[in-house]
Amino acid sequence: MNTAAVVLAAGAGTRMKSKKPKVAHEILGKPLVRWVVDAAKDAGAERIVSVVGHAREQVAPLVEADTEVVVQAEQRGTADAVAACEGALAGFEGSLVVLSGDCPLITPDTISALVRMRDENDAAVVVLTMQLDDPFGYGRIIRDEAGEVARIVEQKDATPEEAAVTECNSGFYCFDARALFGALKQVSSDNAQGEFYLTDVLGICRAEGRRVLALPATDAAECLGVNSRMQLAEAAGIMQRRVNARHLANGVTMWDPAQVWIGPDVEIERDVELLPQVILMGKTSVGEDSVIGPNTRLTDTRIGRGCVVDETVAVEAQVDDGATCGPRAYLRPKAHLCEGAKAGTHVEIKKSTVGRGSKVPHLSYVGDATIGEGVNLGAGTITCNYDGANKWPTHIGDGAFVGSSTMLVAPVSLGEGCIIGAGSVITKDVSAGALGLGRARQTEIAGWADENRKVKE
Ligand code: UD1
Ligand code: CA
Repeated sequence: MNTAAVVLAAGAGTRMKSKKPKVAHEILGKPLVRWVVDAAKDAGAERIVSVVGHAREQVAPLVEADTEVVVQAEQRGTADAVAACEGALAGFEGSLVVLSGDCPLITPDTISALVRMRDENDAAVVVLTMQLDDPFGYGRIIRDEAGEVARIVEQKDATPEEAAVTECNSGFYCFDARALFGALKQVSSDNAQGEFYLTDVLGICRAEGRRVLALPATDAAECLGVNSRMQLAEAAGIMQRRVNARHLANGVTMWDPAQVWIGPDVEIERDVELLPQVILMGKTSVGEDSVIGPNTRLTDTRIGRGCVVDETVAVEAQVDDGATCGPRAYLRPKAHLCEGAKAGTHVEIKKSTVGRGSKVPHLSYVGDATIGEGVNLGAGTITCNYDGANKWPTHIGDGAFVGSSTMLVAPVSLGEGCIIGAGSVITKDVSAGALGLGRARQTEIAGWADENRKVKE
């Protein structure tokens, strides 16, 4: 059976008190609407249509790469939003799942369960429902004498008896696409809010003699909608626990899972240890036996096996097996520590390769450099890669030893096995095996200090 999904993302979300549209707010580095779209994809939806409206110039870019985007110019209600997809879905037959772009916790399993239940029963619609102690604000599921779903009534239209019902509409549905678009033509805005309610479709389908079913949610948290910053934080906490539980089950140790935030696309091998205050985002991966943290943020960074990454910030960097960084290292885009290399304390590395076993242990800046194997850069070594207009490269041959507090003024090359005296400013290439020195000669004036320290009479 064909499956398509509609993701509603046209609303404003005024309670967020934000310049940003609600569905663009992020959980674990991923916008709310992306969580919903990805859940639909993982559930096997072959086509996804996103309905955008409010601030669509900010929402459309989040979804246009892999969904069809339709515009609902004016937000006239959820039925109107789905009706806006009719053109895009012309000729589509099968299951049409409707999802809210502000409910990021929905799982692919639940979406699949809705689709399966509709298929198996040839229902016009299956609605995901939840039991709430405080149902205020939600649409209520009204059942007939036989216990079948008869219709949904919105809070503002409910009689006191209807308002007392605790079975609520989650806002997730699977429809028979043809039945849905037929029924939408009969939905009116004759209600308390003057809106076109998608929920009216259920009563219309029942009146036409089609089956309308409810699937009780196994976990009500999946239906949590984000309308405020408080709910955003709640949803983020649930998602954090969900992602961490998956990694814990796969053999990752966390001293305190509440202090570890892992993005959905991060890959972590077994026997990795995550210390407190670790944030792993984007396409980051961590190899077996590595220890990460505390106080570490890695974005789109590849960490090999057996690495130690202590108090480090890294963005688009690569750390090969057995390399170490930190405490307090900053690896910027295209920093590459080869096997067994080290970027130590207060070291910043950008667009540079540090060869196998090479060490940059203390207080250094390395930018636009290629460093060979077995190199040692003394404390405070700086590559002066920028002349105010252009960036220039530095090459350091295998086995070179650079004394502390050396400025390597690029473009410059150090030959294999050379030694640079501490405190040098190196502006010219140094040959292999040579000693390079670039500093003022030391002089001594005998007795000068004693002479000058005498107190004047
Ligand atoms: C809706 C349901 C209610 C259910 C609740 C669950 C209706 C009429 N009511 O109510 O039964 O309990 O969800 O959360 O459907 N949207 C558009 N265009 C519009 C209007 C809404 O795209 O014109 C989008 C919103 O951005 C949001 C979703 O549809 O993502 C739901 O709309 P909202 O106005 O929040 O509906 P509720 O009043 O919460
Ligand atoms: Ca809502």
